[in-house]
Amino acid sequence: MSFDVARVRADFPSLGAGLTFFDAPGGTQTPRPVIDAITAALAAPLANRGQANLAQRNADKIVVEARQAMADLVQGDPAGVVFGRSATQLTFDLARTVARTWSPGDEVVVSRLDHDANIRPWVTAAAASGVTVRWADFDPESGELDPGQVGRLLTERTRLVAVTAASNLIGTEPDVAAIAALAHAVGALVYVDGVHYTAHALVDLPGLGCDFFVCSPYKFLGPHLGVLLADPRLLQTLHPDKLLPSTDVVPERFELGTLPYELLAGVSAAVDYLAGLAGEHQDRRAGLLASLAAVQEHQHRLQRRIESGLSSLGATVYSRAARRTSTILFDLPDASAAEVAERLAGLRVNAPAGHFYALEASRHLGLGDRGAVRVGLAPYTDDVDVDRLLGGLSTLGRLGVEPAPPRTLSSR
Ligand SMILES: Cc1ncc(COP(=O)(O)O)c(C=O)c1O
Repeated sequence: MSFDVARVRADFPSLGAGLTFFDAPGGTQTPRPVIDAITAALAAPLANRGQANLAQRNADKIVVEARQAMADLVQGDPAGVVFGRSATQLTFDLARTVARTWSPGDEVVVSRLDHDANIRPWVTAAAASGVTVRWADFDPESGELDPGQVGRLLTERTRLVAVTAASNLIGTEPDVAAIAALAHAVGALVYVDGVHYTAHALVDLPGLGCDFFVCSPYKFLGPHLGVLLADPRLLQTLHPDKLLPSTDVVPERFELGTLPYELLAGVSAAVDYLAGLAGEHQDRRAGLLASLAAVQEHQHRLQRRIESGLSSLGATVYSRAARRTSTILFDLPDASAAEVAERLAGLRVNAPAGHFYALEASRHLGLGDRGAVRVGLAPYTDDVDVDRLLGGLSTLGRLGVEPAPPRTLSSR
């Protein structure tokens, strides 16, 4: 079965509000099955995890299922799935924990392509431990992060390399497997930010070869929380701060306090929903494979339409890497990024401007702290959305064409 965007759109109640969403890299809209799963978890008997009564068993089942769903999504081990409030919180916590194994004079490598959530936790932990930070630069012209550049920063003192699987600013997908191989050759751990990547690619953790992978379900149609994945044997070697009476088993010892059970129910539903985007399949992974391929094809077509529209408007497009997601960062010649975003917002088109916390990347691109306009696609993005975006932009660019009227409930 092919990808039916109209059928997909009908599953998203918030699309009925008449807005056009190009802000998926900031967070996606939520489909009905995810909303229903969250509601059902709260409507059923629910207590802290345990086996003594139905309410405890419901909570336990939700956690076990969500770990399995995330493991299926990324080809990971359910025993190495750690849930937390956000990718940022999980990375800060893990950085503090891993830093206990570092000695003064050790080194960590971070990349200027990354969101600050995969930079500052390591820079902060390094400063507290007398550890040197080495910076891997991407090429601002091509947007590429050369694994060889990372390799040249590695020494026998490198303890960890932190790198993104995809830039949330310009979409670049670095060759993580090559970077991981170089890092492992000097005995360093590899921490990968998969927050932007997981929304756009079928994650294959063994293929990426990293030691830690963090992502956020609210970027892929799920609820607002973060997930860290690692080999449980590696997690066994690490000792985070924890309460005395709380369990010491892995992965639970990395999860502080009570888990948000209702959100975890939403995570399982989001993975199932993603797996069903291109029709029914024998198992979840097969469904995910088919869905991601169908969504990518759909998004590539829309991406090409947007890029060609931007080109005729004389836009400067900063998303240029050979391997990248469908996320496009650009500026128009005759208006500031903030003005473009404001104008679009007035037309009910959500395409914000800024650095999106990829502050180092924005500065390295010469965009300073103001950034540029970012357009991101989601499985529910369609041609009408693209018409509305390009129509809105053309009122600011050279062509001066009037935008289409706002999308209304009936024009869904
Ligand atoms: C690439 C990337 N990494 C990390 C984050 C931070 O994620 P969270 O909000 O879950 O902390 C974001 C959020 O936009 C992101 O795009």
